Amino acid sequence: MSTTIDLAVRDDDLGLPDRIARFPFPFTRDTYRYSTNVEPAGSPVATAAGGWGRHPVDIDGHYLDDLTERERILGADPTRFQSLPHMEIAQWDAMVTLMRMLADAYPETFALERDGEARLFVNRALGLEQSFVFGDRSTLPDPPLRFIGRHLQEDVVLLDQREGALWGDAGLVTFAADWSLRFDVGMSFRQIHGPVPRVHTEGVIPRAEQFLMGLQAGQCYRRTNWSLSVDRRLDQSTETYPEWGRDRRLLAEGPLEDVGRRLHLRVEVQHLVRLGVSGAIMFLIRTHLLSFEDIARVPEWSGRLYSVLDELPDDMADYKGIMRTRGPGLRWLRTYGGVRS
Ligand code: HEM
Repeated sequence: MSTTIDLAVRDDDLGLPDRIARFPFPFTRDTYRYSTNVEPAGSPVATAAGGWGRHPVDIDGHYLDDLTERERILGADPTRFQSLPHMEIAQWDAMVTLMRMLADAYPETFALERDGEARLFVNRALGLEQSFVFGDRSTLPDPPLRFIGRHLQEDVVLLDQREGALWGDAGLVTFAADWSLRFDVGMSFRQIHGPVPRVHTEGVIPRAEQFLMGLQAGQCYRRTNWSLSVDRRLDQSTETYPEWGRDRRLLAEGPLEDVGRRLHLRVEVQHLVRLGVSGAIMFLIRTHLLSFEDIARVPEWSGRLYSVLDELPDDMADYKGIMRTRGPGLRWLRTYGGVRS
């Protein structure tokens, strides 16, 4: 698959392919703990291989494949899209904000124009033009969040703010890492984070919620999260666990030389935006996967990944679902990945 989208993020001088040069390698030190790790969005982040983070929406060489995969998943399971009735305005707000973000980031490919009440969204990569009137459902073929999900690689959750708390009341999530939007919809921010170890006693989640509730209209922050995945499988939601869960065991029992190709570092670049019309918080989750083989092409990354995985406490490794795969990952990095322990 190839697209005509301009994907350049930097003047590549290391000769690495885009998937490596643009990968958001998340570790800045040799150990990892949970924290309220948020920073203002928008400025590029330099890594040992290149950089990432110029735009809150990120289109890459997987664009058409990922959109096809999203449609397949939604066709098989429409519950990956959820919206409680009071989230209608937030959906419109999110859709138009995302259209504007796409047009700002990739003006060659996307446009959003306005003529009085009517607006026109153009996606040249898909050859699509859609005119619509904000708030008028009869002018769109789908609910607004479902519609914009056909144009971006990010998953989206919309949080309503009321009674001094945030509530995950709408979302389009096809690429979840071991959780379920259908299960979580309507829950509070604290309830959603209920299964995460450590964060409650350490105050990470209450602090994050206070921070998010203080965001002003238009403000945009970002953070990363990570885990390990077998193969480039974006959909690892609870619903499809029977399809992907056993791959961890099979990888661990299989030949070590396959691990570099099959085991991936899975990184979520998450953006948090206060929407201007509805006041909702828009949570964007963009999932990137890079094989251990590719990571080993950047020695600084393989050494750091090794240290983080080796040191990670068992309760966090268990929650992340990497108890079976981190051992083979470490062995592969030592045997084939050039890491000396
Ligand atoms: C998981 C922190 C925002 C939904 C987690 C984890 C942490 C965390 C530490 C565990 C991740 C892991 O070990 O793999 C934060 C912080 C946030 C934030 C600091 C904001 C500053 C959000 C938002 C949502 C969200 C806005 C939207 C609903 C989730 C979900 C999980 C999760 C669904 C998985 C929970 C499960 O296992 O069922 N978060 N988060 N997070 N977060 Fe957040």
